Amino acid sequence: MKDHNMIPVVLAGATGKTGRAVGQAIHQATDMKLLGALSSRYAGVDLGSIWGENSLHLPLVRNLQDIQESYAVLVDFTEPQSALQRILQAIDWHWDLVVGTTGFSRDGFELLSKRVEQAGVGAAVIANFSLGAWVAQRLAQEASRYFSAVEVIEGHHPTKRDRPSGTARAMTEILGASLGRPTDTIPVHSLRLPGMVAHQAVVFGSPGQMLTIRHDVHDRSAYVDGVLAAIRRVHQVDGLITDLGEVLQVHADPPNQASH
Ligand SMILES: NC(=O)c1ccc[n+]([C@@H]2O[C@H](COP(=O)([O-])OP(=O)(O)OC[C@H]3O[C@@H](n4cnc5c(N)ncnc54)[C@H](OP(=O)(O)O)[C@@H]3O)[C@@H](O)[C@H]2O)c1
Repeated sequence: MKDHNMIPVVLAGATGKTGRAVGQAIHQATDMKLLGALSSRYAGVDLGSIWGENSLHLPLVRNLQDIQESYAVLVDFTEPQSALQRILQAIDWHWDLVVGTTGFSRDGFELLSKRVEQAGVGAAVIANFSLGAWVAQRLAQEASRYFSAVEVIEGHHPTKRDRPSGTARAMTEILGASLGRPTDTIPVHSLRLPGMVAHQAVVFGSPGQMLTIRHDVHDRSAYVDGVLAAIRRVHQVDGLITDLGEVLQVHADPPNQASH
């Protein structure tokens, strides 16, 4: 049932770095209502007190089953093992999904994709919700038409669990498809250092020159617009979306040139 004026949202990962940034934006959005939030460590605690948000009173719960809603969009920014279980449960209930969590196994991702299509729910499973990461993918795809030697360097904060990042894995898939090479022939170098948030450089080389396409996230507000747009999109449209361009309804092709 999707006839809500306010889109109901349940957030897993509300106490995390990214979940907090996107959750506060969901709470502020005039067309969304944050109905539930999950935490394994802070179940029972008021999310408003954790966020320092006086206008929010929402007790955190441990499990999705603790939320008594017939429909919501599940937004998940956690870790892949618990996320997969939650996502499959939400699909069984015919909820829609916005999944930012990265690090799913190939089998896990295939199972998720199959169940989304079978159930006919809307799902955006996107490794990077920032516009800059999407533009960097398009630029790298274009550059790979001219340069065949390429390596990826990604850097993140030391508490990031997956290595390489989901963003780097997505980039190697795009480059591999464009270059006609297996994904694992494109080297990825991962840095995990204090002071980093989320950074990626795609470095192309040919004799006497290098070309670097670089994207830096300094603040997790970079993901907010993409996540809000994805919530609106999956609430309206069924099927699996893995490309942010489809969510933002921007297109990779150059705009038509005016005729002279
Ligand atoms: N797609 C994108 O654009 C994007 C952007 C940034 C990050 N990410 C991904 O989002 C995920 C979170 O990243 P982060 O940097 O925000 O991590 P983080 O700060 O460590 O937050 C992790 C969150 O996951 C929750 N969590 C951990 N284990 C859980 C479990 N078993 N059950 C339920 N919740 C659990 C934690 O809550 P409690 O400890 O309270 O349970 C916490 O809220 C990662 O997979 C990261 O790669 C994606």
